[in-house]
Amino acid sequence: MNVRVRILAAACAASAVLAAAPGHAQTASGGKGGRVEKSSFGTTRDGLAVDQYTLTNANGVTAKIITHGALLTELHVPDRAGQMADVVLGFKTLDRYEGDHPYFGATIGRVANRIAKGRFRLGGQEYTLATNNGPNHLHGGIKGFDKRVWKAQPASVGGVPAVRFTYTSADMEEGYPGMVTATVTYTLTHANELRLEYTATTDKPTIVNLTNHSYFNLAGDGQGTILDHELTIMADRYTPVDDTLIPTGEIATVRGTVMDFNRATAIGSRIDEVPGPAPGGYDHNYVLSHGGGVLAMSASVRDPKSGRLMEVLTSEPGVQLYTGNFLDGTITGKAGVAYQKHAGLCLETQHYPDSINRPHFPPVVLQPGRTFKSTTVYRFSAR
Ligand code: GLA
Repeated sequence: MNVRVRILAAACAASAVLAAAPGHAQTASGGKGGRVEKSSFGTTRDGLAVDQYTLTNANGVTAKIITHGALLTELHVPDRAGQMADVVLGFKTLDRYEGDHPYFGATIGRVANRIAKGRFRLGGQEYTLATNNGPNHLHGGIKGFDKRVWKAQPASVGGVPAVRFTYTSADMEEGYPGMVTATVTYTLTHANELRLEYTATTDKPTIVNLTNHSYFNLAGDGQGTILDHELTIMADRYTPVDDTLIPTGEIATVRGTVMDFNRATAIGSRIDEVPGPAPGGYDHNYVLSHGGGVLAMSASVRDPKSGRLMEVLTSEPGVQLYTGNFLDGTITGKAGVAYQKHAGLCLETQHYPDSINRPHFPPVVLQPGRTFKSTTVYRFSAR
């Protein structure tokens, strides 16, 4: 990788932009504040330059995000002894992210999750999308937002390191109507929160549902499975699915079932009893009790060994719990370790799957003149 590094903002001090000569790295006199650094992450097969932004807060917590997929490649947070570990799955190099992989760390759009049979109606018109997941459309299609190179600009405010990514998706890209401009801003606060704020606008009625697809393992990348992680999801209900993981339309109670995470429960304790198709495990949308619309506590995960705790706050009405069921040892990650089944878990904050075909689900239609807004916070501590 090109070692040319530009310290883009000494976020605590003046937001002066320091440019380093090629082959030369500079460090900012950051004091106790945070900083944003930019480096090259290589060039895509199509010849597009990809950059990596490193956000560092006052506690030395770091998040690295690349412009390919506005994708979180690394997130280093402390355990109860102050020991740092990278708690997200992923790769070291761009070619691996350009190849086949299950959306590690990526921003997902234009519509996250599944649309039944890749079909929907909007404004009296029928639209047909790629069926890239069995009979269904998944995560924005063949070349979704996760596989696009986004524009980036540092966005630190008041000494808190941040970077904003922007992508403009053409009218009918991947079969969706309307030209959509999406942004996602990553902010790493000094309270060890990684804050993701999304916006989207359109020039024609369309559908939008944005999320992040990070796989977390709070013991650290490559450190076994998440089966002993204790999970809480503040949801009394979920959306049961058919054999192709499309919601049946029912909104069912979790009470008295293996879906209930209202009290902290080890993920592995009931995972073999989860109903659904092979390969087994959780891959379900929870109907968050707070209902969405305002940023609110939604879920938490704790690794009992390291004590690392991640709390998830979101303004979205749902969250997809996905326990890495399709990982099968065929992909080797950053640490040189093959990702076995359940090597990580995703908490994809979102509108419910197939919402456009389910009028009783919270709507995903975006009209011209309106701005889609969504915020999710991953807050880290240890105990
Ligand atoms: C989502 C889906 C899963 C799976 C993963 C990627 O979370 O819900 O079924 O497709 O993405 O492997």
